Amino acid sequence: RMRRWQVECRPEIDTFTPGLLALYESLKPSEEHKSKQNQLVDSLTKSVSKEWPDAQLHLYGSCANSFGTSHSDVDVCLEMETGTESTAEALLKLADVLRSDNFDNVEAITSARVPIVRMSDPASGFSCDICINNLFAVANTKLLKDYAQIDQRLLQLAFLVKHWAKLRGVNETYRGTLSSYAYVLMCINFLQLREPKILPCLQAMEQTFTMNVDGTECAYFDEVHHLQDFGADNKESIAELLWAFFHYWAFDHDYRRDVISVRMGNTISKQEKNWTTRVGNDRHLMCIEDPFETGHDLGRVVDRQTLRILREEFERAAGVLQYNDDPCVTLFEPYD
Ligand code: CTP
Ligand code: MG
Repeated sequence: RMRRWQVECRPEIDTFTPGLLALYESLKPSEEHKSKQNQLVDSLTKSVSKEWPDAQLHLYGSCANSFGTSHSDVDVCLEMETGTESTAEALLKLADVLRSDNFDNVEAITSARVPIVRMSDPASGFSCDICINNLFAVANTKLLKDYAQIDQRLLQLAFLVKHWAKLRGVNETYRGTLSSYAYVLMCINFLQLREPKILPCLQAMEQTFTMNVDGTECAYFDEVHHLQDFGADNKESIAELLWAFFHYWAFDHDYRRDVISVRMGNTISKQEKNWTTRVGNDRHLMCIEDPFETGHDLGRVVDRQTLRILREEFERAAGVLQYNDDPCVTLFEPYD
């Protein structure tokens, strides 16, 4: 197990907190952004209801889980009866409807794990992914949103990590790095593991919310307004936490043995999940368990080479925060 002799962060780390918080504030979506988003949802609702009057539209992903920036796309899930039609057929029909309603660049991507229609909205310029009956995504969107309301350091940390990942080129699943969703789960799990804890494990508490998706019970404690003081005993600043996050993934995480699990609020062993060897395309080199689809490893896209790249980036980030004179700039320098 790799461990560096120096595991404490620099004493003046807190001097970087104001700069990091200012960056966080600048990444939050504006009111204008939100109102454009609502307009897009309205025009989409009109288009869809012509063909499927009973369809329900749910926003999911970063436009609804509170982890979205002004650059985030809009993710929409249609809940509807498809009857004898397959999801792929329904998506092709949806693509036709959207084209005739003058949405741009409409494209049905039916071969993906989650088939979608992708398009852009000429009025707002937003790009938008639409899936059908992917209610796991709707459930995990609510889970993330609820976690975000417990301690503000989660949103701050996750915005900074997502921003860093985009600029450093390690937020591209099609190239073997991680999704934004995976990074947010890494942040939640990390805060569940701080001493004292900054976040609880909502799925280990009394079940006040439950939603059945394809036979799987998605249940957890969602009365998060009762948990406002949960992290109060932990006084760590955002600069300290950001450093500790990168340090954990660079030096302390046991990639060979462990799976991170928001569901358990802990790490669990690969052995326990039978994720010890490659199965098909799932390499299980870096393991992040989906909180509801527990057979699903969000790190499955990572191969040996991209794992090396990721670890080098985590190490670089920890080093920059530890030693650099102007870490708030250097950390986010684009990689090209
Ligand atoms: N999702 C999922 N399983 C995955 C990837 C994504 O269920 N393997 C769902 C999650 O609900 C996630 C949403 O799809 O929130 C969108 O994923 P992603 O684009 O990775 O995250 P966003 O939060 O939308 O981030 P961004 O701001 O980068 O768009
Ligand atoms: Mg998105």
